[in-house]
Amino acid sequence: MTGRLFGLGVGPGDPELLTLKALRLLREAAVVAYPAARGRKGRALTIVEEHLRADQERVPMVYPVTTEALPAPLDYETVMSAFYDESAAVLAHHLDAGRDVAVLCEGDPLFYGSFMYLHDRLAERYPTTVVPGVCSVVACASALAVPLVYRNQTLSVISGVLPEDALRARLAAADAAAVMKLGTQFPKVRRVIEDLGLTDRALYAERATMADQRLMPLRAVEGDSVPYFAMILIPGDRWTGV
Ligand SMILES: C[S@@+](CC[C@H](N)C(=O)[O-])C[C@H]1O[C@@H](n2cnc3c(N)ncnc32)[C@H](O)[C@@H]1O
Repeated sequence: MTGRLFGLGVGPGDPELLTLKALRLLREAAVVAYPAARGRKGRALTIVEEHLRADQERVPMVYPVTTEALPAPLDYETVMSAFYDESAAVLAHHLDAGRDVAVLCEGDPLFYGSFMYLHDRLAERYPTTVVPGVCSVVACASALAVPLVYRNQTLSVISGVLPEDALRARLAAADAAAVMKLGTQFPKVRRVIEDLGLTDRALYAERATMADQRLMPLRAVEGDSVPYFAMILIPGDRWTGV
């Protein structure tokens, strides 16, 4: 019999935002796999590390690149596709040997989560359970203490990596928005928000729920350099009808 694959959402950073179910399955797994940047421990591992046992095998999946902009002839999709093929093969080896594998994923696994690419490669071959995690959008709203969408308003979740015109069109049409994946995209995103006259409504959250979180109006963010683990929220207009 093969092992089971668990995709465990571990939440946005605060270890207390881990679910009881994720914790139970984490403890049942013989193998714990997690994404990490080169030379770093990985956010998802840091969140759950206090719960791991010494006899659980740790499998870091070290990203070959951490930015979507690569110099030619490198191409982000090709490099990452090969990385996920290799990672899936490593995990399949453990699963074929009958070992349960827990893949940690920051936030929710199926919401822009790295686990999705392993799920695409493995879920049809192995019994798979996905445990949702507290996603960063709602974690940022709670940290900022701001209601996001009232009544029939629509929330647009937008990647900051989009080209400027596409970003402008999506934001112009949004009742409320979360712009994710900031990092090097931040100057472009801020320019578009300013052009659309949305700056006064825009809030900035960096590493929300973590010990070093930074929360402020977008207008108060100094300089053009912000981390990747940051987003801008534009809440829906306050509903005064009830
Ligand atoms: C690849 S997505 C991962 C989303 C994650 N699976 C989730 O459910 O929230 C990475 C983006 O999520 C956002 N993000 C994740 N954690 C965050 C946090 N603690 N504070 C602010 N933004 C966060 C940032 O915009 C970051 O660029």
